[in-house]
Amino acid sequence: MRYKYNFLVIGLGYVGINLYYNLCKKYKNVYGLDTSKKKVGELNNNFDSTYQIKNLKSVKKKIFSSIKNIKFDYVFICVPTGIKNNKPDLNNIQDAFKKAGKLIKNNGVVVNESTVYPGLTRELALKYIEKKNFLLNKNYYIAFSPERISPGDKISYKNIKRIIAASNSHSQKLVSKLYNSILNFKVFQASSIETAEAVKILENSQRDLNIAMINEYNEVFRKSKLNTMEIINLASSKWNFYKVFPGLVGGQCIPIDPYYALKYAKDFKSQLSLTKLGRETNENIKNKVQNKILKIAKERKKILFIGVAYKKNTFDYKYSKIYEIMKFINKRKFQINFFDTKIKKILINKKFIFSKKSNEIKKFNNIILGNALNGAQINNILKKVNKNSNIINLSSKIIKNKNYKIKLEPFA
Ligand SMILES: NC(=O)c1ccc[n+]([C@@H]2O[C@H](COP(=O)([O-])OP(=O)(O)OC[C@H]3O[C@@H](n4cnc5c(N)ncnc54)[C@H](O)[C@@H]3O)[C@@H](O)[C@H]2O)c1
Repeated sequence: MRYKYNFLVIGLGYVGINLYYNLCKKYKNVYGLDTSKKKVGELNNNFDSTYQIKNLKSVKKKIFSSIKNIKFDYVFICVPTGIKNNKPDLNNIQDAFKKAGKLIKNNGVVVNESTVYPGLTRELALKYIEKKNFLLNKNYYIAFSPERISPGDKISYKNIKRIIAASNSHSQKLVSKLYNSILNFKVFQASSIETAEAVKILENSQRDLNIAMINEYNEVFRKSKLNTMEIINLASSKWNFYKVFPGLVGGQCIPIDPYYALKYAKDFKSQLSLTKLGRETNENIKNKVQNKILKIAKERKKILFIGVAYKKNTFDYKYSKIYEIMKFINKRKFQINFFDTKIKKILINKKFIFSKKSNEIKKFNNIILGNALNGAQINNILKKVNKNSNIINLSSKIIKNKNYKIKLEPFA
């Protein structure tokens, strides 16, 4: 790979910062572009708010909130692709492609890593990069590589197996070589960009649907007084059982990507009715839980949520179902408080609220334990809880101590 190539990563969040850092480790001219001035400031001060890169100091950074007058051989797009009213929200990715169109060199490659439905990378390139004298596979190339990183999971960036698809065999070779130069595994080749795009939405739709199924079975098992965890663990002794656990489905991908699949299917006059039902089932679980919380906490209007991240070992509350429940409860005039050892403040109703101190836990008589807490954390917290408090445990760790009033424990 030529050392003098210019690289640009657009969007330096969970996904982009890993790519940026690993490119910097290998190449000289690596630029980063992020619309958030706060993020740009933090990264230039060697602080990664996703807590993935500890050693940002070790690389020379060129990170900006806008870039003009420089052209790049490679532009990578790593911006959020969220939803609005359960439909793909393409504002960020459209803007990123517009930027790529302005900043890509002749013969350069635009690589999309943001999750999209099949066909969208090509569609956006033709809309925002292609010009009369700037044609795909003649003057520029495109590629898609789905990012599979999963915050909180132990697998490292370099060890994640990666899929590559590009607009022709020339760019396929270039992009594969580039990723191979920064990863521990050789990349997997997809036959088309659309195929690679489909891989990503299939992976996450499958996971969402499997969790929905377990959530549904869990409700039945609980009614019939059977232990879901025991059943799952025993079933897992069979070699081809797909092991997932019941619970709230949060995060940046699983509860979002199936909507991209649904939009795609609709374009082909298909329904993907199971995918739709799975999504609805997982959302309904959250709705049921929040309604039960309202009932249990009715007489005692102060609630303390403990552990607000969406998943174990993460620092992110934005995509957490606990956060959604907090906002829902807050609208019903309950006083919302939280305690978290990693998350210091949370935006509720346009105002930040700050984490309580651990010695304040005993003041609350409604305690909600978040799904991201592990057994050790729960045991620690229980020592600080007032024994008269109502406890709602949303984790998968059963609380066996009879001294506590466990009012609801839907997933343990
Ligand atoms: N977070 C994950 O675990 C994960 C895993 C796999 C794939 N993905 C996918 O990767 C993509 C990026 O997700 P993420 O989690 O890194 O998002 P993120 O929210 O953590 O970070 C995105 C960054 O992009 C910046 N940004 C937004 N619009 C921009 C624009 N137009 N120009 C420049 N910067 C812009 C934001 O300020 C932010 O810093 C999404 O499509 C997501 O679905 C995420």
